[in-house]
Amino acid sequence: EMTPEEIAFQDRIDRNEKIEPKEWMPEGYRKTLIRQIGQHAHSEIVGQLPEGNWITRAPTLERKAILLAKVQDEAGHGLYLYCAAETLGVSRDELLEKLHSGNMKYSSIFNYPTLTWADMGAVGWLVDGAAIMNQVPLQRTSYGPYSRAMIRICKEESFHQRQGYDIMMKMCAGTPEQKAMAQDALNRFWYPALMMFGPSDKDSVHSAQSMAWKIKMNTNDELRQKFVDQTVPQAEYLGLTVPDPDLKWNEDKGGYDFSEPDWSEFFAVIAGNGPCNAERLGARVKAWEDGAWFREGLMAHAAKAEDRARA
Ligand code: 3HC
Repeated sequence: EMTPEEIAFQDRIDRNEKIEPKEWMPEGYRKTLIRQIGQHAHSEIVGQLPEGNWITRAPTLERKAILLAKVQDEAGHGLYLYCAAETLGVSRDELLEKLHSGNMKYSSIFNYPTLTWADMGAVGWLVDGAAIMNQVPLQRTSYGPYSRAMIRICKEESFHQRQGYDIMMKMCAGTPEQKAMAQDALNRFWYPALMMFGPSDKDSVHSAQSMAWKIKMNTNDELRQKFVDQTVPQAEYLGLTVPDPDLKWNEDKGGYDFSEPDWSEFFAVIAGNGPCNAERLGARVKAWEDGAWFREGLMAHAAKAEDRARA
């Protein structure tokens, strides 16, 4: 049974009003936003690791500069999103403590290894492609700070996808070995990219409420289908084969029929048992611990400056 405040709030949502930090909101709305925005921010920060692995080994100076710029962008995306989460009354330290102790998630995709340079192409093309599919609708999300963060982030994402697809084009037009590397990268990243959109709608515990609050604008399966329909022609253009023998165009539905990912793998990965979970979380915890002396120095300096100002 909804209270008068909840009815008035839902009416604001239904009229596409933006909810701002100081305005009344149901506790569940706040908690869902902290969970989703916090995990989104964690995804950006952890997402730097797979690509960071290749900055020192990029094949040309130009590719190194492009990859460096992209990884730097992801750090900025993370900071925008932590700022949006902080407007809900949670501290960045709290969010990071939950990430480091395994009590908050980040996107499953980053628990897969990046084994060859072609993976930098597949990540930009497929992972950023999927992220764009998911983030473009989120520009219209009901919470003001999240919507504005999404608008800024989406402006940079198309470059991320284009540079990845450009790597794939170069390699597919290269030697047979290079094209084979590109095919191998597609084989390894296709299903993990489909998993990024979340479990199938029947298994999505948050979708109904998140869509009622316009925290989620489309269902997981809807965006996954859109991603497949957009990406298959791009693979064909490259002369690559999507690793799904059951993939085929369905005229009636105006989209592709395709094989679902292995959901047992998905749930294992988000429970912490993917190929790289320990490595990724270990890297983040190490970065946090190695930076403690610097944070403490900044705080001590700020405290001294405050004392001087008061004296
Ligand atoms: N990875 C990790 N966990 C996932 C997941 C994924 N791909 N998909 C779903 N889950 C988790 C959910 O977080 C939830 O667990 P929780 O209750 O502990 O949070 C559980 O699985 C059930 O899934 P639901 O579909 O019910 O959960 P949501 O309604 O939250 O939907 C979502 C999941 C679609 C990822 C949604 O949270 C969302 O749209 N988040 C914002 C977008 C986002 O985080 N994108 C990350 C992409 S990577 C990125 O942005 C970096 C890019 O620049 C490369």
